[in-house]
Amino acid sequence: MRIAARIGALGGEAAMQVFARAQALERAGRSVIHMELGEPDFHPALEVVAAAHAALSLGRDRYCPPCGLPELRAALAAHLGRSRGLNLKAENLAVTSGCKLALFLAMLALIEPGDEVLCPEPSFPAYSSITRGLGAAPVFYRLGEERGFQPDAAEIARLATARTRGLILCSPNNPTGTIYGRDALAAIAQLARERDWWVIADEVYARIVYGPGYESMAGLGGMPERTVIIDGFSKSYAMTGWRLGFAAGPRELIEAMEMLIVNSFTCAPEFIQVAALEALRDPSQHAAVMVAEYARRRELFVQGINRIPGLRCALPEGAFYAWVKVEAPGRTAEQVQQSLLEDAGVAAIHGRGFGPSGEAYLRFSFAGGAARLEEALTRIRGTMENRAGGD
Ligand SMILES: Cc1ncc(COP(=O)(O)O)c(C=O)c1O
Repeated sequence: MRIAARIGALGGEAAMQVFARAQALERAGRSVIHMELGEPDFHPALEVVAAAHAALSLGRDRYCPPCGLPELRAALAAHLGRSRGLNLKAENLAVTSGCKLALFLAMLALIEPGDEVLCPEPSFPAYSSITRGLGAAPVFYRLGEERGFQPDAAEIARLATARTRGLILCSPNNPTGTIYGRDALAAIAQLARERDWWVIADEVYARIVYGPGYESMAGLGGMPERTVIIDGFSKSYAMTGWRLGFAAGPRELIEAMEMLIVNSFTCAPEFIQVAALEALRDPSQHAAVMVAEYARRRELFVQGINRIPGLRCALPEGAFYAWVKVEAPGRTAEQVQQSLLEDAGVAAIHGRGFGPSGEAYLRFSFAGGAARLEEALTRIRGTMENRAGGD
């Protein structure tokens, strides 16, 4: 069968490949600590699960409006008002099955073949993959360690051409944990306004931050009309498998996405949307409890890593990833990743999966396996010391 060429332009995700290998090792009887996926070991709050059960019992399992239940769209607009100071209405929201689908549909609605799209590097691989799949070209701006992983607006201006149509940002960034600073956001916003770019702001981790507050690109002057926020329930509410995300942006973009939803998945499941309303109400403060626990794990894991010779890690400002630099003579980060997985039973991802500047890094997720973080550190130390001793 002849498959359309655009499929060949798409790329996979290193996380899924490592996860598959880790599961194969477990089936063979090996013990593996999973630090490869950005998946919380929490489950949704009990009241969210109860709301889903109740919705099913009440027959809330029907088709519903493509962009989501009106009450959920309104609740999301209010939620973004409270948490990010944004002034949105229900009509600015489209509910999708997962954040990635919101990202995919927004990109489908915005990108033409031949366009150039500014993408962060290192970052979530779907940005460049989808851009290429749509016949456009990703142009990478760096989030380099020498700049504290912050974007450099001057570099972005240099990379822009007449074909540049838009820019993607991810803050807090996966994998570095960087929150784009105020100056960087303002300088990028100025470029976007001057050059009439759209901006996709992936804010999937905006609720998982360790400092005071969070500033959204969509809150800056002149940006609401050109910015679409991608967010959802997977990370903030530990609802990865429930597959519920959303896009928040200008009405004409949401209408374009509605057309794509009608032509693809019709609507997100009704009972999941009803339960999501309960997640947003969050009577037990589950989201904050989880962030407090991630903060504890962040300290424990990053401090532990920095005590191991040959590894170095800056404290992430948000999200739940440690972006660890490997500085071990005679060993590449890829070799360390392999021995961690195959010999020590710790699943992490080699940084190249997030872009070429990740060559010397490993990404560990501390969202899962809290009980085993100490054990993971012991195994990682063992791996680093073993080879340093020249075995
Ligand atoms: C930056 C970023 N955006 C989007 C997603 C996708 O989220 P979802 O599972 O809701 O599709 C992820 C998941 O890892 C992510 O890290």
